[in-house]
Amino acid sequence: MKQGEFIIRPAREGDIPAMLALWSGIKEIQSASVPDNPEQVKRFLELNPTGFLVACRAGRLVGTIMGGYNGWRGAIYHLSVDESCRGQGIAKQLMQSCLKALRQLGAPRVDLTTYDYNTRAQGFYEALGFYERDDIKNYSYLYEAGK
Ligand SMILES: CC(C)(COP(=O)(O)OP(=O)(O)OC[C@H]1O[C@@H](n2cnc3c(N)ncnc32)[C@H](O)[C@@H]1OP(=O)(O)O)[C@@H](O)C(=O)NCCC(=O)NCCS
Repeated sequence: MKQGEFIIRPAREGDIPAMLALWSGIKEIQSASVPDNPEQVKRFLELNPTGFLVACRAGRLVGTIMGGYNGWRGAIYHLSVDESCRGQGIAKQLMQSCLKALRQLGAPRVDLTTYDYNTRAQGFYEALGFYERDDIKNYSYLYEAGK
């Protein structure tokens, strides 16, 4: 494998510890109001085996994208690339492969959200053809807070 090469492949259960380790060092992922836990990542993988992808370089996991389809819309979470590997097209490849997988499953549209402050990700999404919605407000219901 030449230096700089990477592969994109479906995630596997055995990747979960490396994913959690990658996410734990990324502020934009860690600011989510629900902490990541291995059981939920495993459950997402069981439900979405083709849209959940990882990027690996020389056997090391360096990127993730969690794409899911619920029969109605596609949704994307946790797009991330190891800091040392950014700016090399890895996220673009992850996104394009994920969009293809969700399309094949039947998704007519794919939605994602990003923090207001995350202008880097916003620039990336717009460069990849996503459009910003100005007609929507997002709401969340947090079970723990509601009890
Ligand atoms: C956002 C992130 C995934 C981008 O990863 P990356 O691997 O560096 O991105 P890529 O190298 O694949 O960029 C691909 C293309 O997008 C463009 N791009 C990337 N960021 C951009 C920006 N802020 N503005 C405009 N274009 C941008 C690149 O120029 C490149 O275009 P090209 O193919 O024409 O050269 C990465 O910065 C990251 O992991 N950030 C932290 C986690 C995060 O914020 N995730 C999103 C949560 S919503």
